[in-house]
Amino acid sequence: MQNWLDKIYKTTTIEELETIRVDLFGKKGFLTVEFARLKDIPNEQKKEFAQNLNEQKEVLNKALELKKTELFNAELEKTLKAEKIDVTRFNASTSNVGAYHPVAYTMDRIIKYFQNLNFAVEIGPMVEDDFHNFEALNLPKYHPARDMQDTFYCKDMMLLRTHTSPVQIRTMQNQKPPIRMIAPGRVFRRDFDLTHTPMFNQIEGLVVDSSDKISFANLKHVLTEFLQHMFGDVEVRFRPSFFPFTEPSAEVDISCIFCGGDGCRVCSHTGWLEVLGCGIVDENVFKAVGYEDVSGYAFGLGVERFAMLIHKIGDLRSLFESDLRLLGQFK
Ligand code: DAH
Repeated sequence: MQNWLDKIYKTTTIEELETIRVDLFGKKGFLTVEFARLKDIPNEQKKEFAQNLNEQKEVLNKALELKKTELFNAELEKTLKAEKIDVTRFNASTSNVGAYHPVAYTMDRIIKYFQNLNFAVEIGPMVEDDFHNFEALNLPKYHPARDMQDTFYCKDMMLLRTHTSPVQIRTMQNQKPPIRMIAPGRVFRRDFDLTHTPMFNQIEGLVVDSSDKISFANLKHVLTEFLQHMFGDVEVRFRPSFFPFTEPSAEVDISCIFCGGDGCRVCSHTGWLEVLGCGIVDENVFKAVGYEDVSGYAFGLGVERFAMLIHKIGDLRSLFESDLRLLGQFK
């Protein structure tokens, strides 16, 4: 029996142990054969023989069981060690998942905000004609106001649109009032410095209704709520300005989100940051699209400027350099 016990103790795998169990208890196993011999044993030795066999059976069974538990635990320990998940470890597989570009993210937030106010989203072509980009927006040929927006011209008075305002014209040409729309999209200008790139994104807004319905108060309310949604608890200021397509026009400032209005480098020590242009739609614009007896307001904003302020990005050009050290921070 000691032989068998030694064999059991020496096994290192559950499979090996199973072979021993079969060698002992299987059809032709040692103990099975021994028990079969019982009938041939003379009666007077039977009791002792059987007792002895049963004892062996019990001891070997116990030994098999103990060894099995021991081997099972060892194996479990091994797998647990091998498959241990270190939750503090940097996970390379998820780090390669892409992230929203800050401009796309800001664009989305703005679009969602206005969609919740029931503004429709309109789009227009990036290669525009002179009529939609300038003429219909009260910017006649040779008018000095055209100098504010220089762009890239193609043939036949076609050009890369300098703003999203032409989408106002296209929408009014295709739809009857009332209108409540925004137009997000890319625009192009001959500019390149810390705060300007030749391509950037704008969101235009236009609301038109019957002549007595729309006032500057509506515009002021909608934009104030919008800017406080985007920038938090800021003061909003409407400063008289000029745009050919609105009269009166205003530029809208928020109190500086960096210094709280005390004055700092970002706000050029004025305490205010300019964020968009707006106004009451000029009669000439309505005339150009054949609208009568209507009133409306419009606004236009630069998405990159919003993204830069919200994410505190110093150089607008860096948004388009695809440098993952910058973009990777927006996951
Ligand atoms: N189109 C103007 C620009 O690109 C922005 C703008 C200002 C749009 C006032 C408007 C507006 O609709 O009313 O500079």
